[in-house]
Amino acid sequence: MVKLRSLDANNPGRRANWKALGLSKEDMEKPKIAVVNSSSELAICYAHLDGIAKMVKEEIRAAGGVPFEVRTAAPSDFITGANKSGSYILAGRDIIANDIEVQVEAAMLDGMICLTSCDKTPPGHLMAAARLNIPTILVIGGYQQAGEIDGEPVDVEDVWSGQVGAIFGKEPKFPIPDMAENAIRGPGVCAGMATANTMHSVVEALGMCLPGNAPVRGNSPKMQANARAAGRRIVEMVWEDLRPRQILTPEAFRNAVATLLAVGGSINAIKHLQATAIEAENGVDVFALMEEFSDVPLLSPVRPTGDVRIEQFEDAGGARAVLKRLEPRICPEALTCTGKTLGENLADYEIEGPDIIQPLDQPFSEGPTIAILSGTMADTAVVRLGIRDGSRPEEFTGTARVFEDTKECMAAIEAGDIKDGDVVIARNQGLRGGPAMGGGASLILFALDAAGLAKTTAFVTDGQLSGLCLKGLTVAEVSPEAAEDGAPIGLVRDGDTVRVSVKDRSLDLDVLPEELARRTGPGIRIEASGYLSNFRESVRPMRTGGVLVPEKK
Ligand code: FES
Repeated sequence: MVKLRSLDANNPGRRANWKALGLSKEDMEKPKIAVVNSSSELAICYAHLDGIAKMVKEEIRAAGGVPFEVRTAAPSDFITGANKSGSYILAGRDIIANDIEVQVEAAMLDGMICLTSCDKTPPGHLMAAARLNIPTILVIGGYQQAGEIDGEPVDVEDVWSGQVGAIFGKEPKFPIPDMAENAIRGPGVCAGMATANTMHSVVEALGMCLPGNAPVRGNSPKMQANARAAGRRIVEMVWEDLRPRQILTPEAFRNAVATLLAVGGSINAIKHLQATAIEAENGVDVFALMEEFSDVPLLSPVRPTGDVRIEQFEDAGGARAVLKRLEPRICPEALTCTGKTLGENLADYEIEGPDIIQPLDQPFSEGPTIAILSGTMADTAVVRLGIRDGSRPEEFTGTARVFEDTKECMAAIEAGDIKDGDVVIARNQGLRGGPAMGGGASLILFALDAAGLAKTTAFVTDGQLSGLCLKGLTVAEVSPEAAEDGAPIGLVRDGDTVRVSVKDRSLDLDVLPEELARRTGPGIRIEASGYLSNFRESVRPMRTGGVLVPEKK
């Protein structure tokens, strides 16, 4: 019989508090479950979560547990305005993990359900689950219903890309105010296989949500049923003592990486998976797994990689169908939050949309959708390839054009200062330099595309990219970042030759080491205060996923 840890802390003061909060004598002996809710009135990603939390709590009570709702930070791209506020998004991931630790660990609760939504909530929840190692299920919060104009779908990607395109005189497909008016018709995360839906699919591949949860229409009857099922299941998990570190094994990470590649997902998932692996202390090197699984092709071309809409992907079976297709290539023995293995969960499952999610031997695109590069300019860097139909360059040798911030770079593009053959470098946007990668590098991609330069230039940055960006040849998250002493991306100068080769997985700076040794980097150029300066001081390099927890000696 499992001994509830909440009872270990069952001192008179706590009992007095619980009694005053309305718990009965019987309740005192039941599993106490945190319902982690990042509900916020500031962003549509979170707008429905209070209602979902209520349903989850009802089910926990019905299953013999006692729920305690716990609030966390709610970072979202919808609530950012300037470079500095952009920094709060990634930095928010670690706040979420810490919020959970501070409340759930301090209260010694027995398990938790995390209502996961916008980009940084899934990794924040996974990291906390791995760190606390108490029985945990994530509930996938679902995606926004996109709108339409004249029968044509319009989503938030259309609004963002239209807005930047307009600066360069590119005609949007509909007037921007009309698109903004129509793009979002319900709560949930951005439509498309951007970071949030990628992470939701990855959560399912890791076994940390119930099967068939991702992706899902936000607040739909299906999503609500998933949440209720999780509410019942978490109480069982506590009594089974099924813990995250039994689920977040190296096998689970292999399944997650294969899924990320098969859905052509956001590159941001790599650092989030790595950060989760660090918290789980399982020794997994996600960057190495990306290479090991580089034979996994694109099985479903969801927007922005292709034309499949997220609704079609969900209706075709979503992440579960992808895992079914990947069965020959993944680890079916990985344990999941159902208490069964992934293989057992998939045994009787039939894919609803076999045309939308193709088998491994009939992929939509050969080769990986993302590749990790290294060379004289980076220990690691990430390139998102998407559908490899020859429409984007994969080999590029060009002339460096170096910019210390996004505004300066946008102005140069606008002024016609960037030419075919240039390698546009936006630096000081990394984990420390940004700080927290807040430089807005994605805007440059939209600008290059709008200026007709996406395919005749290459773009290299130590910053991150929006999950929606997929233009030209783009190399992001170059590490070491420019803020680190001696980092090649900090030493590169206008006119240097830079080479990118996807075939060779390389990113090289053609400057002799003696010459580089004579140069100095830009140092940190963006001031930070408050939490962001703490983040800058504590953050570890990209190879750790940018965690704030110190290295174990
Ligand atoms: Fe929250 Fe896009 S801003 S998912």
